[in-house]
Amino acid sequence: MPKDTLTITDNRTGKTYEVPIRYGTYPTYGAAINTADLRQIKASDDDFGLMGYDPAFGNTASCRSTITHIDGERGILRYRGYPIEQLAESSTYLETAYLILYGELPTRQQLEEWTWEITHHTMIHESIKKFLDGFHHDAHPMGMLVGTVGALSTFYPDAKDIKDKDVRRKQVVRLIAKMPTLAAFAYRHSLGRPYAYPDNDLSYTGNFLNMLLKTTELKYTPNAVLERALDVLFILHADHEQNCSTNAMRSIGSSHPDPYSALAGAAAALYGPLHGGANEAVLRMLGEIGSKANVPAYVERVKKGEVLLMGFGHRVYKNYDPRAKIIKRIAEEVFEVTGTNPLLEIAIELERIALQDEYFIKRRLYPNVDFYSGIIYQAMGFPVEMFPVLFAIPRTSGWLAQWEEMLDDGDQRISRPRQIYEGADVRNYVAMALRERGKAA
Ligand code: CMC
Repeated sequence: MPKDTLTITDNRTGKTYEVPIRYGTYPTYGAAINTADLRQIKASDDDFGLMGYDPAFGNTASCRSTITHIDGERGILRYRGYPIEQLAESSTYLETAYLILYGELPTRQQLEEWTWEITHHTMIHESIKKFLDGFHHDAHPMGMLVGTVGALSTFYPDAKDIKDKDVRRKQVVRLIAKMPTLAAFAYRHSLGRPYAYPDNDLSYTGNFLNMLLKTTELKYTPNAVLERALDVLFILHADHEQNCSTNAMRSIGSSHPDPYSALAGAAAALYGPLHGGANEAVLRMLGEIGSKANVPAYVERVKKGEVLLMGFGHRVYKNYDPRAKIIKRIAEEVFEVTGTNPLLEIAIELERIALQDEYFIKRRLYPNVDFYSGIIYQAMGFPVEMFPVLFAIPRTSGWLAQWEEMLDDGDQRISRPRQIYEGADVRNYVAMALRERGKAA
């Protein structure tokens, strides 16, 4: 008779244990044992008990979640059950952010209220501008974003009251509304341009483009194709379940600081070249390759382990990243407005060669979201330093949804992994004179 349990025999002692198996929505959505159930397995009475050893969480679920589902084998990504392709086709970033945060697509009235709220919280305190002015002219905008979003916690001391759902919602609105303003101001600071204030008549991405690009015109009018392309890119980046930065958001949030402090940590995790900094790294890599003719030699260097093929590979996707497919299509629409990016030719050739090479086939390495996004951002006129910032803005909704889910989950406590200690056993302190003598001997 089949049972939803696992029977384990400890060959050290000959004892047998039975532990329950917990399933996701369907068995194919993941099954797990609770590794705390392994603690009863002991070789002797004073044994600590068996733990799971899983550096980098390769096969450990750190939470239960209802937000995002990824099937890496089949190349599937869904937010709250809705396929990413349908959201990219029919939704907007703000509607998707609402879906991610509150679990359902909004009614017309809910969407109008939500949009109004976000639109009317885009201003930042004037003191933040002074804070930005303190950065060096060539400061990386991601560093500025990490610093200023963390600093927002000092402007909203009420945010510490994380148990109050109304207070939480207010910070969610503030963060989603203010991230584009912080990002745009950081960008203008690096150019030495005066800051452009939010325009409440424009859409979320239209206003972002306004704050980035407005010069002397009385009213900035965004290009509709670029505005929509950016909105779709924001939808694609809104959440991605337990990635490195989301894990940082949950882990920091588990000690109950305000969400600005937790989000600064998540943004810092995103900054690295193996995560959200990869799109910047892809552009630098394509620039270094220089021409289509140099692609085979570069691929050889990758295979020798000298360099990574940036924008390729993923912990979860062992198939084409569904976001990369959509991005490839958007690239064509953007290039019709901006003209093509010469680096596209190199990227396509890299993809072509890599996808038929044994090294990449064996390791199941496919283009990920970052492979083509940077090429679009560059064609739209963004400098490479802005790429991780363009990732952080939309990911804010995902970080916040995951943070709230963690706070409301009775299973969660302060995040605190175990370790397997492999260092020295207890030993007595040796006085300096004796250590010196030992050296001389
Ligand atoms: N180029 C060359 N080899 C690679 C690459 C790559 N981009 N990615 C993985 N490999 C190899 C790796 O060397 C290893 O080979 P071997 O088995 O011979 O040691 C094998 O493939 C498995 O890789 P892994 O390092 O165990 O995979 P991981 O799940 O730990 O790392 C990753 C995932 C995304 C960090 C990695 O694929 C990588 O560094 N990619 C390049 C950076 C990148 O594009 N990051 C963006 C990820 S998507 C968006 C985001 O999360 O922000």
